[in-house]
Amino acid sequence: MRVCVIGTGYVGLVTGVCLSHIGHHVICVDNNEEKVALMKSGQSPIYEPGLSDLMKSSMASGNLEFTADLGVGVSHGDILFIAVGTPALPNGESDTRYVEAVARGIGEHLNGGYKVIVNKSTVPIGSGDWVRMIVLDGISERQKVPVGAGVGASSHSAPVEAAFDVVSNPEFLREGSAVYDTFNPDRIVLGSGSGQAIAMMKELYTPIVERQFAQDVDAPPVPVVVTDLSSAEMVKYASNAFLATKISFINEVANICDRVGADVTQVASGIGLDSRIGSKFLQAGIGWGGSCFPKDVSALVHTADDYGYEAELLKATIRVNDRQRLLTVEKLQKVLKILKGKTVGLLGLTFKPDTDDMRDAPSLIMIENLNRLGAKVKAYDPIVSQSGVSQGLSGVIVETDPERLADGCDALVLVTDWAKFKDLDYRKMASLMNAPVMIDGRNFLDQKKLEQAGFQYIGIGR
Ligand code: NAD
Ligand code: UGA
Repeated sequence: MRVCVIGTGYVGLVTGVCLSHIGHHVICVDNNEEKVALMKSGQSPIYEPGLSDLMKSSMASGNLEFTADLGVGVSHGDILFIAVGTPALPNGESDTRYVEAVARGIGEHLNGGYKVIVNKSTVPIGSGDWVRMIVLDGISERQKVPVGAGVGASSHSAPVEAAFDVVSNPEFLREGSAVYDTFNPDRIVLGSGSGQAIAMMKELYTPIVERQFAQDVDAPPVPVVVTDLSSAEMVKYASNAFLATKISFINEVANICDRVGADVTQVASGIGLDSRIGSKFLQAGIGWGGSCFPKDVSALVHTADDYGYEAELLKATIRVNDRQRLLTVEKLQKVLKILKGKTVGLLGLTFKPDTDDMRDAPSLIMIENLNRLGAKVKAYDPIVSQSGVSQGLSGVIVETDPERLADGCDALVLVTDWAKFKDLDYRKMASLMNAPVMIDGRNFLDQKKLEQAGFQYIGIGR
């Protein structure tokens, strides 16, 4: 099928590359010309395991192209994905200005036969109808005459040459395993009132639903959940809010464990075996971060507020997380007492392993607070130390290897659970430190091994 994906970030580029890999002809559009030039040269602007190789092979097969020209993408695609960012505004509300710009642009370029416009971006509930309205505005701007159809009318009352429907198809991929998640989804959610649009979306995803590109090709087909527009939009927010709440819950339990002398890792194993609870997302630590949980939970609280409902549980989820992000600083104060004049080394900077994404990473708050308390902060991160990502960071010296990081430190904090951090030369690192203290912010390291290497090991809720 002919597909256009607008926005080539973590979601758009992965979606475009994976859809081209399964045989569709995809044009990816981005208004960042530098990014487009980089992608045209065969390079991925983001670090995502497996992405570069697939991107190169799809480009070579002629199934994947890049452009900064929205008109080219819109006239190519029968299915047009909107996958631009929806960051949080200072009041927690979702900033939908990029979605609006794209929807208007689609309207200005829409021509030819029937198209499906897909909201892949995470957008506030009600955005499906809103996007439809903006597209119609774009059409009427181009025609310089009012579109008689008006808001909420069926696609068939729009001008014949611009017949379209809007589908909400929220994305559930995780950074760091985005390609895997795209080929092995737990479910595909499609929200729309249009049977024609749903049928086209089902056809698009058939190879994925049938597990043709899955790790386990014999697994049962991927469930496709068809809903109305608003329900699909709510599925996305509710999923992220639930997962964030689950993490805040285990962090709260960890903080109680710390006080009563229980071990949260053992507690998590014990409760996770209850199939009603499940073992995933019960890793206690320094709190959730990234470009989605923080903004999506806040946006849902804001939406509830708009409708006169106080989302108390979700507010508590956020409060627990805000406090959790400062826990390692409290633990450092407990062990080092005064932080002024001390040097703290952070193992990891990104909000999770296997990504270069620093958006809303817990490390940023840690750096800010350690600086405020007079500590010098150094860091080593397998990706950030090697890429240009560190250029935007302030208040932290980014070292190029773990031993340089340890040199002269009064304590280390494990911030990101990168696999390679399991097997560093901790004996050597301890010998280079002023005081070999390790705060394991993810309960990730082998306590015995660290203690044998000479570290005082402090976990979260253990
Ligand atoms: P991103 O910031 O990485 O990428 C957005 C891209 O859109 C950028 O390349 C930007 O240049 C481009 N863009 C902005 N305005 C444009 C325009 N007018 N025309 C063309 N391109 C434009 O964002 P992301 O992390 O990929 O997230 C995209 C959406 O998907 C968000 O709504 C997010 O909440 C949602 N989402 C993200 C993830 C994730 O893991 N990152 C997962 C699920 C859902
Ligand atoms: C999350 C969701 O998992 C995806 O399904 C969703 O598509 C995405 O948000 C989104 O909407 O953008 P992501 O942010 O990439 O994906 O990463 P997660 O693996 O969910 O981790 C989020 C944060 O929670 C990280 O900071 C991670 O360290 C933390 N976390 C995760 C924990 O502290 N404990 C856990 O048990 C799991």
